Amino acid sequence: MRKLLPAMYARDRANDLPPTARIFCVGRHDWTTEQFIESVNQSSKKHVAAKCLDEAIWKNFCARITYVKLDATDAGSYVALSAALRDDPTLTRVFYLATPPSLFAKICHNLAQAGLATENSRVVLEKPLGRDLASAKRINHEVGRVFSEKQIFRIDHYLGKEAVQNLLALRFGNVMFEPLWRREWISDVQITIAEELGVGGRTGYYDTSGALRDMLQNHLLQLLCIVAMEPPVSISPDAVRDEKLKVLRSLIPFTPTTLKHNVIRGQYRGGHLQGVEVPGYRKEPGADPTSRTETFVALKAEIDTWRWAGVPFYLRTGKRMADQLAEIVVRFKPLPHSIFAQSNDAQPNCLVIRLQPDEGLQLNLMAKTPGDGMRLKPVELELDFRETFKMPRMDAYERLLLDVLRGHLTLFMRSDELEAAWAWVEPILEYWEREEVEPMPYTAGTWGPPAASSLIGRDGLQWREEALPES
Ligand code: BG6
Repeated sequence: MRKLLPAMYARDRANDLPPTARIFCVGRHDWTTEQFIESVNQSSKKHVAAKCLDEAIWKNFCARITYVKLDATDAGSYVALSAALRDDPTLTRVFYLATPPSLFAKICHNLAQAGLATENSRVVLEKPLGRDLASAKRINHEVGRVFSEKQIFRIDHYLGKEAVQNLLALRFGNVMFEPLWRREWISDVQITIAEELGVGGRTGYYDTSGALRDMLQNHLLQLLCIVAMEPPVSISPDAVRDEKLKVLRSLIPFTPTTLKHNVIRGQYRGGHLQGVEVPGYRKEPGADPTSRTETFVALKAEIDTWRWAGVPFYLRTGKRMADQLAEIVVRFKPLPHSIFAQSNDAQPNCLVIRLQPDEGLQLNLMAKTPGDGMRLKPVELELDFRETFKMPRMDAYERLLLDVLRGHLTLFMRSDELEAAWAWVEPILEYWEREEVEPMPYTAGTWGPPAASSLIGRDGLQWREEALPES
């Protein structure tokens, strides 16, 4: 209601859906299509920006929808879906599984048994893909018995974000960054996805997941891959995914010492956000008051390659943080030697790739202040993508759904990538469980537990917001 239907409406409005395209919404409620469309009008329409809402197009879009009652676990109930999908089986069929991952295998088998999974079918799997390496492997194996790898679209909506694609453009569409993009010139990389939102009504799902599974295993590691991968030979799916896989496989595995010192687990307590009092995680509606689920994780990763050896990658994500932002900060090394006696505030160059709330690039350079003497000051070169390209935007889900329809796999995870990501994070999960690691409390509206600052501070560095001058 919130993401998929508005995204499909937006593509319909842009004439990207063929006139014959149909949308089958499948659920357990005993609804008619009319009742379902009524609820789409109530719950989905409000997620379409007012300026994009055209009543005639919306009505036409809703006319594409058919509601089918189905219990995903009951093979018998797929008859109704077969009956609804009476059209030409050579048409492209996309099965989008926005369900718990524990149902993926069952649904795929049921689709196959009902004769619905044809050669032209595609299946989209929403994250989280499993809870650990074993369950991810099981899903890959079972889904793979029904669909071939080129039919499986493991979606990570971060890869559909405009700024992430722009990072590819920046790295591989310009000649100037590539020679500097390595350990000789880069001191450290920080990747942050901070959310002001709490867990709110999602405690049911979230309490079984936590920040490591919900965000780090997928979104943050995918961003790390895009920053760290070697130039692929082309933009073709396997060329890009091969390079991302190499990064994941080069991540240095955790040891008992690094698990203890390089991974911070946190959970928010009550606090204030923009002047409004908000409850702690354990007091969210439906939450377990003794829950040990982390709502924050920060860690230091290292990549064992010629390009990146010794360069720390700090990854951090949390709910109820001080700000709503997602950004990648690439910090360059300090000057090897300064010839300017008066430049006490000399700062290393820094490239900030902002994913949200606004999308853009900021390059921090040193420049001379006007006037007498030779005093240097940090200045910023800013590129705001929205300002630069005054054209309609495309939300990540819109782009990715179109890619599924067109069969473009580059922005989707391959099975081996998924398994490599799980293999790297799993020791953290095991350690937390084995050692019964309590998450460190942090006050809602802050940047997480103080230990996250010490994590980076130990290396003589700071998170970007800590290094910014007080405003
Ligand atoms: C989802 C997570 O994958 O990403 C959510 O399950 C999170 O917990 C969301 O809020 C963040 O996405 P975005 O695009 O709003 O940063």
